[in-house]
Amino acid sequence: MVVVVLSVSLVLYSCGKKKVGENTDWAYYGNDLGNMRYSALDQINDKSIKDLSVAWQKDLEPKEAYECTPIVVGGTMYVTTPLGPKYVYALNAKTGEELWKVDLGVPQDYAKYACCGLVNRAPSYGNGKVFVGRLDGKLTALDAKTGKEVWTVTVIDYKSGAVITSPPLVVGNKVVTGHGGGEYGTGSRISAYDSETGKELWLSYTVPQDDKNVTDTWKGESFKTGGSAPWLVGSYDKETNTIFWGTSNPSPWNATLRGDDPGKNGEITHKNLYSSSTLALDAETGKIKWHYQKTPFDAWDYDGVNEKLLATIKINGVDTKVVMEADRNGFFYVNNRADGKLISADPYVKTTWAKSVDIATGMPVEDPMFRTTTKVKELTDKERVWPSFVGGKNWEATSFNPNTGLVYIPANNLGMTFKISDATYDRGNFYLGAGWTMIGEEGKPGEFIAWDPVNRKKAWSVNLKYPMPGGSVTTKGNLVFFGDLTGMFYAYNAMTGDKVWEYKTESGVVAAPMTYQIDGVQYVAVIEGRMNVMAGFIGGELGEEILKATPAGGKVNVFALKTGK
Ligand SMILES: *[C@@H]1O[C@H](CO)[C@@H](O)[C@H](O)[C@H]1NC(C)=O
Ligand SMILES: *[C@@H]1O[C@H](CO)[C@@H](O)[C@H](O)[C@H]1NC(C)=O
Repeated sequence: MVVVVLSVSLVLYSCGKKKVGENTDWAYYGNDLGNMRYSALDQINDKSIKDLSVAWQKDLEPKEAYECTPIVVGGTMYVTTPLGPKYVYALNAKTGEELWKVDLGVPQDYAKYACCGLVNRAPSYGNGKVFVGRLDGKLTALDAKTGKEVWTVTVIDYKSGAVITSPPLVVGNKVVTGHGGGEYGTGSRISAYDSETGKELWLSYTVPQDDKNVTDTWKGESFKTGGSAPWLVGSYDKETNTIFWGTSNPSPWNATLRGDDPGKNGEITHKNLYSSSTLALDAETGKIKWHYQKTPFDAWDYDGVNEKLLATIKINGVDTKVVMEADRNGFFYVNNRADGKLISADPYVKTTWAKSVDIATGMPVEDPMFRTTTKVKELTDKERVWPSFVGGKNWEATSFNPNTGLVYIPANNLGMTFKISDATYDRGNFYLGAGWTMIGEEGKPGEFIAWDPVNRKKAWSVNLKYPMPGGSVTTKGNLVFFGDLTGMFYAYNAMTGDKVWEYKTESGVVAAPMTYQIDGVQYVAVIEGRMNVMAGFIGGELGEEILKATPAGGKVNVFALKTGK
């Protein structure tokens, strides 16, 4: 009897005071399956942030480049490392104590097939299992409690140039994954597996080889080696049971192999479907419901893979369910989620390859000066195209805060020269046919942009010394967190863009942060570990400088309020 009374008074106490005992997970890369990267936690807010300090840290092996957003489920944090991943860690999310560490035994001969970093962006969670995509083209399910392997399936032969670097999307009993390969002419599947057994449930091709409507958009047989790899994360809309995924550039980069030169008025004969597109797929069958192609007949490696942000925003005063994306090609797209119809497309960085996008047709209005053709084989310093193939934004995650109405974009201001050359398909080898040099915009090669998708303009932005700022997370506490390649990890006032907090890590930060709550205490976590391969792609003085700026790293940094402990 006494016990009952006691527990009742405890409950009353906890309701009246701080929410003792309340836990909030972060179970997917983007938190919600719509990749908003928004958290309704607000213990850490624009006022209390001055008391934010290190709660715990955990050194990870190997020291390399980390692009991983940790996930937290039921008090346990799961982390994937680079090089395979080499390891999957399970940590006590309150203390950092190691619960288990599993070596997946990924064969170490994948480097040649992983164009752009030997990284892993996160594990995923579902039904008591942790799912991990691998550089050897496999997908593994581990028991979340013990780390013991439950099943492993081969998604694709990585020796064709197709590695997996991004977390799968877990929808009910389905684990859905894409893979890389746009630089190797390999393609290009999105596939779903039974979360319990690993049995393949459906397979959908991003260049459906048996659909003449698609293959006719490629010159000759080029669709057979057309890339269009879905290498980043998917999103899911429960209401319509629809999965959204982006596809990469078509292969090779030299476009003249894939299509005829545009006509006199810029008409494009070969769009190269469904490359550089947003795809909406039926989650039950994998059937493509609609597509929207952002860069038809891509001639600049403007991947269309960036995460699809599912949100509801006011369009002409009416709440509208949209898919939003800061595309590599420099435009910020808002599409109607139901049918893919373009609502708006506006440049969020310096963008010269197209002047605008025609809303009625959805087609970019290109500036022909910036397209290589059979006649224009080189864009020199004079015709430098913006953005570069690194993109106005690359894989570093955007976030959306429904309270400020702003999308936070880790952006790049890079332009490139471009020279096409011959390319022959050779399985497992680069299939590019292009060379380039890059420069950064004076004073701001990197920029963190708060974009207003309703009024279609920048609300505020911060200039950064280096491109490729890390991904972001935004919270109900009116905050947005992100790191950069100087190794700084920042918090900004989400509404005004004032810097309110910063912390210096020992390496660069490119991974996206996340936040969670255990026993009523809110934590913010970010993994440090500089980027190196992309710095090589950027090249020149800027690339050199980035490589020298920070040492390789690998550490989970977790912060909480001093007063909250
Ligand atoms: C190809 O396009 C035609 C005409 O728009 C359409 O009727 C047909 O269903 C399409 N085929 C496929 C496989 O989608
Ligand atoms: C682009 O590739 C095609 C096919 O290999 C080739 O015919 C063409 O000459 C290439 N362009 C240049 C500028 O080398």
